Amino acid sequence: MTTTGAGSAAFNPLLRLHRDCDGHLDARSEAVRTYAFGVPTDEALDLIGAASTAGVVEIGAGTGYWAAMLAANGVDVLAYDIAPAPSADNHLFEGRDAWFPVAVGDEAMAASHPDRTLLLVWPTYDEAWPAEAIERFHDAGGQRLAFVGQGPGGVTGDVRFHALVGNLDRCYPCALGVAGHACTCDVQPMWRCTHQSSLPSWGEDPDRLQIFERIEDPEQTPLATERSSPVAGGGCDGRPSGLTALRELGVLGQVWTLTVIGFCVARAVVVWPLLRRYGVNPWWFLAIDIGTAPMYGLGQAMGVKLIRDATRPMRDALPWIAALLVAFVAPYAYLLASAGKLPTYVILGVALWIVVFGAFAVGRLFRDARRQSTEVA
Ligand SMILES: C[S@@+](CC[C@H](N)C(=O)[O-])C[C@H]1O[C@@H](n2cnc3c(N)ncnc32)[C@H](O)[C@@H]1O
Repeated sequence: MTTTGAGSAAFNPLLRLHRDCDGHLDARSEAVRTYAFGVPTDEALDLIGAASTAGVVEIGAGTGYWAAMLAANGVDVLAYDIAPAPSADNHLFEGRDAWFPVAVGDEAMAASHPDRTLLLVWPTYDEAWPAEAIERFHDAGGQRLAFVGQGPGGVTGDVRFHALVGNLDRCYPCALGVAGHACTCDVQPMWRCTHQSSLPSWGEDPDRLQIFERIEDPEQTPLATERSSPVAGGGCDGRPSGLTALRELGVLGQVWTLTVIGFCVARAVVVWPLLRRYGVNPWWFLAIDIGTAPMYGLGQAMGVKLIRDATRPMRDALPWIAALLVAFVAPYAYLLASAGKLPTYVILGVALWIVVFGAFAVGRLFRDARRQSTEVA
């Protein structure tokens, strides 16, 4: 399923508001009460839609804003809250308009709709019901779970919830002697993260959507205390592996990579007669030019992707930027290595080209990254 545009800023007033105020914390309180805690994006709505062939059941829906956005994108949604807006029993949304019909219902409703995808958007911090909802849903045969909120240590869900979705690598209350949190040593992850998408956040704390699939037999996974890295969430909550990141590159990134390869082939063909004239082996140039092209294209596409990913530190992008630079310089370095056969003005020209276009390539990488993250926000 692809969005009809309902999740884009034009049809998504919360996304637009967030973008207009640049996610400034001053605007958060009113935005949250009028719309929702999580800010939906096209990508997030698409991911949930794609994971919800039989529709969505949302628990703790508040004003029903996410339900409304999903419904506008053609997803069949049932939404529940223990005290839906504008109930006076809900101090968050008292007197606020609902965006979608939200029925009165608690975590037990999850078990009534195991065919649907269970959606929890900013489930209450440190309360038991979100964990109970995903346990009941699993027990009833539920297959897919979508969670919008912060990671462990944030203000969504409790420690048991994060243990059940495999977002913890150990029982922190026991390992660190943290008082006031339930022990999770005996908790087996029931859910495995398959997709993750970062969302616009208010302030510093990163917000994200995670999609999970059920672990059929949770007892088979090692105990939480024995794990050295998140098991069920591996590849999602931890840093995605390079392969996962490559898979997530998307059509645009893959097309860009192929375009760069095509450009390098064309360049080698164009300069072929010139190289021959100066006694440089054009076959070697072609081999180096084409051989380094995938590294150049991938370096640029991955660099942009990682720089704009608010959930990843900048250092994750550095190896890709380094690969981009090495791939960029390699064909010219070969030319300069053959400098004995080239006139001085050609050598100077190549050196100038490296400096100017190298700086241009890196500059464009950061500009694209900034532009794309602004579009997302
Ligand atoms: C932090 S708000 C998030 C609301 C909404 N998902 C959003 O993003 O704006 C948590 C919501 O969970 C609801 N809630 C609390 N306990 C619940 C329960 N046991 N069953 C269903 N909803 C519950 C609250 O009424 C509140 O609307």
